[in-house]
Amino acid sequence: MSRAVERGIRQIVILGAGLDTFALRNPHGARQIRIYEVDHPATQAWKRQRLAEAQIALPPWLILAPVDFERDDVGEKLVAAGFQQNSPAFFTWLGVVPYLTQDAIGRTLDYMSSIRSSEVVFDYMEPPEAFSKELRQLETERTEQLKKIDERSVSRFEPAAIAAMLRSHGFCAIEDIDFQEIASRFGRAVQGLAPGHAGVHVVHAKH
Ligand SMILES: C[S@@+](CC[C@H](N)C(=O)[O-])C[C@H]1O[C@@H](n2cnc3c(N)ncnc32)[C@H](O)[C@@H]1O
Repeated sequence: MSRAVERGIRQIVILGAGLDTFALRNPHGARQIRIYEVDHPATQAWKRQRLAEAQIALPPWLILAPVDFERDDVGEKLVAAGFQQNSPAFFTWLGVVPYLTQDAIGRTLDYMSSIRSSEVVFDYMEPPEAFSKELRQLETERTEQLKKIDERSVSRFEPAAIAAMLRSHGFCAIEDIDFQEIASRFGRAVQGLAPGHAGVHVVHAKH
């Protein structure tokens, strides 16, 4: 993202922001970037409340756009919030794709690919069939735990399918790194990275 800002991108869109605090820590404040946090209306309302309780004011570069990726038109909602469709943007979409249906994923990619010089970073999960017996066991335990807190992972992809989907949307320069590579590049800096996340991949692609 920092490299994209250095190259001149001034719009950052955090899709499914959750409790992401990047906008509060914004290291690019002096470059007048605008940060759009897009999230499910219920999550966003909860975050607003948590920030208010903690007496943390929304910084002037942060714009919140409530969107349900399954029902709403993300472009319409972003434009209503002031997003400039004719200017490039960097999208982060971390921790969200596994919860979405293929339809919502396709529509969100359609929109991102309609923005000139857009870039995206997101993660996805591989199907467990490719895992070793030991990792499949960890994966089953993790899925059981998630079920207990009513979190379900809906969509999983083979790396080749993700690459094909991105290429069909006009994305290129696709970099896809798997669990081992994430751990060796970022190691302890990735909070909560446990063996049960073995099927996770992180992708960066440019349009
Ligand atoms: C696991 S959190 C990830 C939060 C943050 N991006 C991170 O990496 O820490 C999943 C996020 O996806 C959002 N999300 C899930 N389904 C959604 C939907 N249908 N529409 C909009 N947001 C959704 C949730 O509101 C939540 O903020």
